[in-house]
Amino acid sequence: MRKFYVVGNLKMNMLSREEAAQYLSVLNREVHDKQYQHVTLVVCPSFLYLSQFDDLPEGIAKGAQNLFSEKSGAYTGEISPVMLKNDGVEYVIVGHSERRRYAGETNEMIRGKALSAIRNHLTPIVCIGETKEERHAEETDSVLMLQVKTLFSGFSKSQAENVIVAYEPRWAIGTDVVPTTGEILGVRVLLRKLFTEIFDARTAQRMTILYGGSVKRSFLPAVSWEAGMDGVLVGRESLFPHELVKMMNLFEEEAEKE
Ligand code: PGA
Repeated sequence: MRKFYVVGNLKMNMLSREEAAQYLSVLNREVHDKQYQHVTLVVCPSFLYLSQFDDLPEGIAKGAQNLFSEKSGAYTGEISPVMLKNDGVEYVIVGHSERRRYAGETNEMIRGKALSAIRNHLTPIVCIGETKEERHAEETDSVLMLQVKTLFSGFSKSQAENVIVAYEPRWAIGTDVVPTTGEILGVRVLLRKLFTEIFDARTAQRMTILYGGSVKRSFLPAVSWEAGMDGVLVGRESLFPHELVKMMNLFEEEAEKE
């Protein structure tokens, strides 16, 4: 059965519990009693509001935007995977380019976080992608190869199958510029080839790969199913819950056609 994901990364937005509650009431109203068989929406609010995101409608899961690789201990300001799991979180974004940029996260650190997520029964959504400069220097493939090889080093096949990969070209985040369908498809093919080399064809086939960067409903087909992707990671547009639900509806319709 074809399965799609819409991941809403709310980033450091919504500045009060009231705003979070309002967001949730719109989300609940929009989903109403619709049933989704082919699409899962993962909503990732700030840690502070996670407990408000219990009791989500069916088809919607709770995600976090980051985690720390250790379970507990003297790590001031960090959030443990066990805390997330115990709070009902199912997914966690790992290695978003904003974490790489503002918090200095490296591929090695991100690898540790992804493994820790898996070991604690969370699904990591691991972000990869090239910068504008790397793209202009035609280094996209080599950058992605290095990221994937480092991030997945030492993973077993079953661990790899539990990862969701989000291809997010950094130049497409927050810019309203998106790659062409052909470019995204090219990355899809490259990633499948890499995962086949590292693991095997079956594992590569089973891995979930999303596109992220300036996603809007109007060009959803062009950046997702037409480009061979299993869904999208949405930033700014995820601040509009009705847009996320409309995206879910489009994926559901598409999956039913297949
Ligand atoms: P954007 O962000 O949709 O606002 O470009 C995407 C992201 O950062 O994941």
